[in-house]
Amino acid sequence: MKLDRLLQTQGFGSRRECRARVLAGRVLVDGVAADDPDLEVDAANCRFSVDGVEWRYRERAYLALNKPAGYECSHRPQFHPSVFSLLPPSLLARGVQAVGRLDEDTTGLLLLSDDGQFIHAYSSGKRRVPKVYEVSAKHAVSDEQVAALLAGVQLNDEPEPIAAADCVRLDEKRIRLTVTEGKYHLVKRMVAAAGNRVEALHRVAVGPYVLPQTLAPGQWQWIEPAAPAPA
Ligand code: URA
Repeated sequence: MKLDRLLQTQGFGSRRECRARVLAGRVLVDGVAADDPDLEVDAANCRFSVDGVEWRYRERAYLALNKPAGYECSHRPQFHPSVFSLLPPSLLARGVQAVGRLDEDTTGLLLLSDDGQFIHAYSSGKRRVPKVYEVSAKHAVSDEQVAALLAGVQLNDEPEPIAAADCVRLDEKRIRLTVTEGKYHLVKRMVAAAGNRVEALHRVAVGPYVLPQTLAPGQWQWIEPAAPAPA
């Protein structure tokens, strides 16, 4: 693949803009300054830097973001900054989207990608992907509440009770709750229906993807789409 085309696929602007970046000496390939936009590069094994920032060619982008509180999962946020403001411009230019949404005050694992199939596989409620949340409740969580969450709680506007796939008590006021549906405010509504109230919500896993412990709030990292997407 030619260097200008490679840069374009990775979100560094139009072909023309990418050619200009190379000609301006802003691009290194495998550590060596590149001045020829028509240079043939082995895309799959290519490491390059633009304006001093190192990148590796990725056909598709798969990211994990540790979402901080106070950010909205929308390109057009209403009251708070967007999670997309936490990503570099080249990833936004590639059309990276959030895989489902977290509430503004929810923290933790948010997957992002520019692979439509991946996004659909991990956000569609029909695929029943397990999503694991650490819930801090306002009141002590009783055995009855844990049992109700596991048996299924009736939510307004839902025809059937919704059950947690798992519910483990972490301490007096905290549980780890696994749900497999993707409904609006699901965890908060389930906990309320069980007779308690969510004070803080933190997502630790989506399907096989676990929030890396080293990822600070507001930071993102590349992930490998290790497991086949659920059918
Ligand atoms: N359930 C909620 O209530 N909020 C979230 O952000 C995610 C799941």
